[in-house]
Amino acid sequence: LSNVKVVGVDAHIGSQITSVEPFVESVRRLVELVEKLGDEGIILEHIDIGGGLGIRYRDETPPEPAEWVKALLPVLEPTGLKVIFEPGRSLVGNAGILLTKVLYVKETPHKNFIVVDAAMTDLIRPALYGAYHEVLPVERRGEEEIVADIVGPVCESGDFLAKGRSIERPRRGDLLAVMSAGAYGFVMSSNYNARPRPAEVFVKGDRFQVVRERESYGDLVRGERLGI
Ligand SMILES: Cc1ncc(COP(=O)(O)O)c(C=O)c1O
Repeated sequence: LSNVKVVGVDAHIGSQITSVEPFVESVRRLVELVEKLGDEGIILEHIDIGGGLGIRYRDETPPEPAEWVKALLPVLEPTGLKVIFEPGRSLVGNAGILLTKVLYVKETPHKNFIVVDAAMTDLIRPALYGAYHEVLPVERRGEEEIVADIVGPVCESGDFLAKGRSIERPRRGDLLAVMSAGAYGFVMSSNYNARPRPAEVFVKGDRFQVVRERESYGDLVRGERLGI
């Protein structure tokens, strides 16, 4: 490997980690590796500790970034190396919500469904990992609560955003907010079932800006060709 210059060690141990201990353990091992390489005459420039810090979706109590840094710094500092970290979810997860409109409320003796116009195509985390996202009515009317599955209009049994939730009975046209959708949400969306993706809107105080236009049907076929 005479033409390869080793400049750092990098790790990413996982995601949605809600305590500091696994990070401390990982960084200890990285530092051990840095020291071993140093003994071999390989002097590094950086140590990259990855991302993975969790957020609160439901009742988790992840460490604050300051607490995380406080736990890691004593292990990292003695190396004197540049520290790189790669936070994703902890930066943006709770900065985004998915707004969706109620299409239909279907109540049966066995189960209730709130059918909304967002789907697994817009937020696949519940279907993919059984992930929990809080769902709240945008306006409260003081209606009686029902227990319902909140589902999309796509023809898949996995098309749900939440299951068995107690929520004030909404009416058709009401808006629901699917919380904590800022990470692994829009970026994992798809056009499955010919569904144009929604607009993305930045909000700051009482100001807002559409930062990505809602897709049109034309967008779905753009780039397609027929005829050979
Ligand atoms: C190499 C690497 N770095 C950073 C991240 C971001 O992780 P998180 O959103 O959990 O902070 C990921 C996510 O999978 C990753 O694979």
